[in-house]
Amino acid sequence: MSEFLRACRGEPVSRTPVWFMRQAGRSLPEYRAIRAGVPMLESCRRPELVCEITLQPVRRHGVDAAILFSDIVVPLVAAGIDIDIVGGTGPVVASPIRSRADVAALRGLDPGQVSFVDDAVRLLVKELGDTPLIGFAGAPFTLASYLIEGGPSRHHEKTKALMYGDPQTWHALCSYLADVTSTFLQVQVRAGAGAVQLFDSWAGALSERDYREFVLPHSRRILASVPQVPRIHFGVGTAQLLTAMAEAGPEVVGVDWRTPLDVAAGLVKGKAVQGNLDPCVLFAPWEVVERETRRVVAEGRAAPGHVFNLGHGVMPETDPDVLTRVVELIHHSA
Ligand code: CP3
Repeated sequence: MSEFLRACRGEPVSRTPVWFMRQAGRSLPEYRAIRAGVPMLESCRRPELVCEITLQPVRRHGVDAAILFSDIVVPLVAAGIDIDIVGGTGPVVASPIRSRADVAALRGLDPGQVSFVDDAVRLLVKELGDTPLIGFAGAPFTLASYLIEGGPSRHHEKTKALMYGDPQTWHALCSYLADVTSTFLQVQVRAGAGAVQLFDSWAGALSERDYREFVLPHSRRILASVPQVPRIHFGVGTAQLLTAMAEAGPEVVGVDWRTPLDVAAGLVKGKAVQGNLDPCVLFAPWEVVERETRRVVAEGRAAPGHVFNLGHGVMPETDPDVLTRVVELIHHSA
């Protein structure tokens, strides 16, 4: 079994495995070249292109896992919701979901509507050999925020207004999103994904109490739908949520850079951790990158398993050679 999968399961490893969130993307010149002129969502629907983009960071950096090139809105678009991904902004929803009637009008996801993902994963599993492929999906709070706000949001005020003001509609929307997400993850796992990551990127905007009431039951149901593979659950700014996120049922809890991994290990009660180098550290002089990388590796030893990653995604301006050096450092000496 790969070191990545062993670390996810909290089994002994010969070295710390590493991959990077958003490793397949705009920090790579070969990515920008191959994507030129192809809109983001269109590129996600072309299995050969998805396969090539997913492999680029594996070839270049020698990371221990690949992550499927896709986006969290792909299953929603496939289910018929009118969303575009606008460069420099992110997902933009044509008609935001704000009422009980809006939720009632949503149509479920049929696996056949994401057959292009099934094809891409099958191609990738063949190409990757022993390197596991991580499938992924967005979690209910993050997806609901895009659908309700209509796009990226700093404070999620419309989302929270619906959540607090009409809990029944909120739970109906999250239940719908849990169904779509479970179907989407199951397609990836059946096609051969070796692990999955559930991104609740914006759940850190919630208190622990609200997270437990409004989000956790839905995320738990999603994670329970793919018991065959290790499950990673990640959010940003989730120091107050790490224990609750662990209770949602993943094998691995992803941690941003704000909480040291030894502290996180105590909060997630025996689960493995993933993280958590600050992505901004990659812009500092190499001595700092090296020191911080070694610190993260050392702190990760407090958990039964540690998958090295950044505390959030690779930023587009990152020098890819620094990422390669970080992988070498972790593999050879850290
Ligand atoms: O690791 C990988 O690169 C795998 C592919 C991946 C993408 N999006 C590709 C993408 C993954 C795992 C995602 C997840 C995603 N998408 C999340 C969760 C992770 C996180 O960052 O918290 C979120 C919140 C989104 C929504 C989204 N999609 C945003 C905020 C953006 C950036 C907008 C911008 O242009 O700055 C996107 C677009 C997107 N998704 C791009 C990529 C490579 C950039 C589009 C492009 O290259 O043209």
